[in-house]
Amino acid sequence: MSTVRDDMPTVLIAGGSGLIGGHLTRHFKDRGYRVYKLTRSPKKHGQIYWNPAQGKINTSKLAKVDILINLAGENIGSKRWTTERKAQILSSRVQSTEFLASIIPQMTRLKYYIGASGVNCYDAIPDEVFSEDAPYGHDFLAQVVQDWESAHQQVLKQVQGAILRISMVLSRHGGSLQLMKQPIYWGVGAAVGPGTQSSPWVHIDDLCRLMLFAYDQRLKGTYNVLGANSTNKEMTQRLAKWMKRPLFMPNIPAFFLRFLLGERAVLVLSDLKASNQKIIDAGFTFKYSSLDSTFKSFFKKP
Ligand SMILES: NC(=O)c1ccc[n+]([C@@H]2O[C@H](COP(=O)([O-])OP(=O)(O)OC[C@H]3O[C@@H](n4cnc5c(N)ncnc54)[C@H](OP(=O)(O)O)[C@@H]3O)[C@@H](O)[C@H]2O)c1
Repeated sequence: MSTVRDDMPTVLIAGGSGLIGGHLTRHFKDRGYRVYKLTRSPKKHGQIYWNPAQGKINTSKLAKVDILINLAGENIGSKRWTTERKAQILSSRVQSTEFLASIIPQMTRLKYYIGASGVNCYDAIPDEVFSEDAPYGHDFLAQVVQDWESAHQQVLKQVQGAILRISMVLSRHGGSLQLMKQPIYWGVGAAVGPGTQSSPWVHIDDLCRLMLFAYDQRLKGTYNVLGANSTNKEMTQRLAKWMKRPLFMPNIPAFFLRFLLGERAVLVLSDLKASNQKIIDAGFTFKYSSLDSTFKSFFKKP
């Protein structure tokens, strides 16, 4: 049971109704922080209306905010990347962030800002491990990240803070892991493409701890956020083991996945390794840097 304490900071999470926002809210509340969330459809206590596309917001709590965390953006993996969807993915991030930048002067107590971004911003080259100083890549996601981060900079001109390039978030409550679990549960799980392609990932608890750490340490700059990089085959096999399900299907061919998912198949087919050295050097310790420790926290026994 969490108890909000008056001497603790107030956090405002833009896009707080999603997967990360839900977990982050519990994480902060458990530590006594007061949490408000900006959402386009407020339903519960603590949720505040905004509509960044229309430049609308309920301003009543803005002067109380100490920490602003910006997660808002249309879900990247849920729909086919048509031209229209791509425009929504981009504008939902850039517009909301620019809108937040425009209302920062009303947040008179604001001390710290965290802008979410994505680690899929480098030109994936097998066997290269990307650190934050690598240039942006050239595909759609890299373009989204570049424009999103440049919008974050408009906020960071006004308040100190950091940009977190988040990798695939592993949570027992949804997101990518949920999608991977379903076929494995039904006995038709398989690695995709060659299976040797790597993806960076982070346990949701570590991500939440890292956000709190960033605030406590008043981190500045841009950080890759990942517990480790794992191949698709490794992840599928470890997951099946922890779910106690057999895995006997051949890999799903890349061409079939591209046919099924269209361009967003890059989310599972690209071969990217990123470095978490910068955040470790800043003093952060990941609790979960292996798939087994992560899945153990979700499933208890293999
Ligand atoms: N989950 C991951 O694996 C992962 C990895 C890397 C980066 N990220 C980034 O981290 C952020 C949060 O991720 P998540 O998994 O929690 O996402 P999510 O579950 O899809 O939630 C996204 C949030 O953004 C808000 N939103 C969606 N479209 C919007 C729009 N047009 N205008 C304003 N707000 C909008 C939604 O709020 P309402 O609908 O309530 O307004 C929702 O709360 C995202 O920007 C995502 O790109 C996530």
